[in-house]
Amino acid sequence: MADYVVAIDQGTTSTRAIIFDKSGSIVSSGQLEHEQIFPKAGWVEHDPIEIWNNTREVIGQALSKADLTRHDIAAVGITNQRETAVVWDKNTGQPVYNAIVWQDTRTQPIVDRLAADGGVERFKQIVGLPLATYFSGTKIVWILENVEGAREKAEAGDLLFGTTDSWVLWNLTGGPDGGVHATDVTNASRTLFMDLETLSWRDDILEVFGVPKSMLPEIKSSSEVYGQVEASSLLREVPVAGILGDQQAATFGQAAFDTGESKNTYGTGNFLIFNTGEEIVHSKNGLLTTLGYKLGDAAPHYALEGSIAVTGSLVQWLRDNLGIIKSAPEIEDLAKTVDDNGGAYFVPAFSGLFAPYWRSDARGALVGLTRYVNKGHIARAVLEATAFQTREVLEAVNADSGVDLTELKVDGGMIANNTLMQFQADILGVPVVRPVVAETTALGAAYAAGLATGFWENLDDLRKNWQEDSRWTPQMDEEERDRQIRLWKKAVTRTFDWVDDDVRNA
Ligand SMILES: Nc1ncnc2c1ncn2[C@@H]1O[C@H](COP(=O)(O)OP(=O)(O)OP(=O)(O)O)[C@@H](O)[C@H]1O
Ligand SMILES: [Mg+2]
Repeated sequence: MADYVVAIDQGTTSTRAIIFDKSGSIVSSGQLEHEQIFPKAGWVEHDPIEIWNNTREVIGQALSKADLTRHDIAAVGITNQRETAVVWDKNTGQPVYNAIVWQDTRTQPIVDRLAADGGVERFKQIVGLPLATYFSGTKIVWILENVEGAREKAEAGDLLFGTTDSWVLWNLTGGPDGGVHATDVTNASRTLFMDLETLSWRDDILEVFGVPKSMLPEIKSSSEVYGQVEASSLLREVPVAGILGDQQAATFGQAAFDTGESKNTYGTGNFLIFNTGEEIVHSKNGLLTTLGYKLGDAAPHYALEGSIAVTGSLVQWLRDNLGIIKSAPEIEDLAKTVDDNGGAYFVPAFSGLFAPYWRSDARGALVGLTRYVNKGHIARAVLEATAFQTREVLEAVNADSGVDLTELKVDGGMIANNTLMQFQADILGVPVVRPVVAETTALGAAYAAGLATGFWENLDDLRKNWQEDSRWTPQMDEEERDRQIRLWKKAVTRTFDWVDDDVRNA
């Protein structure tokens, strides 16, 4: 009997396969990290072949740990790092270049060129996004303009583009041998090319970008059978039936299905998503308008999103680039050696600032330093940066929605950090709540796949699976909270205007 669903979570730092049972509990999992390639300052790449090989391997790990075979699996769901762009040859299956990762800022000159006519909000009313290096569209343009022969091959119809959901789906379903080239509405809504109302590619925008439509995947719903897994896979003939971008998947896994529900995920970056139901809401406060999910033929659900580029990756930076901790959890021990930040504020504008500022000219700054500050204070400042950035995004959500959020549902790798979660509640002034299954990203993809295949009946089935695990309540007094936020906002202004021609040409 097929009593389980597999979710493939193709993330920024690793690829996971997680097997869930009907109660939404994890039965087993496999995980492999892939190399982060930094060819130059501001450039971030992944090797798509490594990612695909890892995907195959983690599926094997998860199945064998639980002693299961394909006959036990009802469906496969895919979730993924969202704006990371892969371009490959459909005849050979070979990528023409490494995947250009969402954090990569090399396309700033392309953004400037496109924004010269109409500014960065040129297409915002149609696609929900400002022109920014973050989104996959400008990354495709870079590949077409900089990889030898790419433009000609693309014009001839030989190249395909996909975010990593499409890359994994195409390979899972046969690759050059009949692989399905599709994506879901949530991933499509991060390209700069999809019309939020019609959920189709905009020919006029593609023309401005110079991207041939033949490269683009077919836009499908988030929950339907896209195809079957190909014959050489351990999951042979299992239907692939769910795709959601990682942040939308986490929202779905948190059972935040209805208007006004939300979640905040603390991973490589932080992403707060606020469900606006069937209504497209345009932000006045620096949030993105994006797809929440679409189940088969049902109407799409939209969302507002506050994206923060650097949160958990700042902890990794402390570990990998400075070496003052050996593992991510050690940051909490170090932070606990002091009572406060000692006056230090760390604004990690490594990829510029995303929500709510959208300042690509910003770069990171550690300010407020005196001879007093030690590495414990810096560890605290690193953790606090995540909480302050979240506070600013929450302010934007409250302003856009006109209702103040009364608690924040959280998930992601950083929520294991109690010191951070307590400080987060203190700085927000509302409780922070963690569910039992913290792997909400994978769970959301499993839900989407299981709904399409009748493994789960309906959303009520899924709501029942959500259970509270822990809750942090605010303890900081209001005066201190206001003072901290004031200092943080001052620190943020110190990162502005850093990137100019001197920096760009260095
Ligand atoms: N105890 C901890 N304290 C602070 N940060 C932590 C802790 N444990 C993990 N992290 C951070 O959490 C992040 C990993 O979280 P998670 O696995 O949710 O990331 P992710 O963004 O989903 O990654 P991916 O994109 O690969 O899926 C890392 O950046 C790591 O530095
Ligand atoms: Mg993730």
